[in-house]
Amino acid sequence: MTVREWTIKDLDGIAAIEAECFSDPWSRRMLADSFLSENFFGLVLEEEGTLVGYGGIGFACDEAELELIAVSEMYRRCGRGQALLSALLAEAKRRDIRRMFLEVRVSNAPAQMLYLKNGFRGLYARSRYYADGEDAIVMKKELD
Ligand SMILES: CC(C)(COP(=O)(O)OP(=O)(O)OC[C@H]1O[C@@H](n2cnc3c(N)ncnc32)[C@H](O)[C@@H]1OP(=O)(O)O)[C@@H](O)C(=O)NCCC(=O)NCCS
Repeated sequence: MTVREWTIKDLDGIAAIEAECFSDPWSRRMLADSFLSENFFGLVLEEEGTLVGYGGIGFACDEAELELIAVSEMYRRCGRGQALLSALLAEAKRRDIRRMFLEVRVSNAPAQMLYLKNGFRGLYARSRYYADGEDAIVMKKELD
């Protein structure tokens, strides 16, 4: 397992997993914009040269938002999501970020378990946050 900073060459691989994992995936344009933003940091996870996961945070001042995290379905439940999240949290601390937020679907138990295990706590729900009408839970972790 290799975790490294993403580059624009990873765009196709990320877009493919994004489409596989989400009913409302980030478009190629949104992904491409994030590569260019100074306020975004992204990572990919590779197995023997194959891109199987990725994650990204956007940040401003001392706050960050976990904007993306996904592992291709057949590679899940082997610690890769944890490896990505740990690396993103470490990078956030390196940048003196004090707290991280995220939104997660109320139905997304695997992701919620990952976040709870890593010290994120639910703040409140955002009603009908997603295009299909599902609510989001907003979660926060203090980084110290
Ligand atoms: C969430 C996701 C990234 C987790 O990736 P993963 O590689 O399977 O996660 P890991 O194997 O590192 O698991 C770490 C922890 O997450 C939790 N977890 C992961 N999958 C779980 C599942 N299916 N059921 C319950 N808990 C789960 C557990 O707490 C687990 O710790 P444990 O193994 O000690 O029980 C993955 O399920 C995924 O890509 N889902 C689709 C995309 C997505 O929903 N992203 C989040 C958007 S908010």
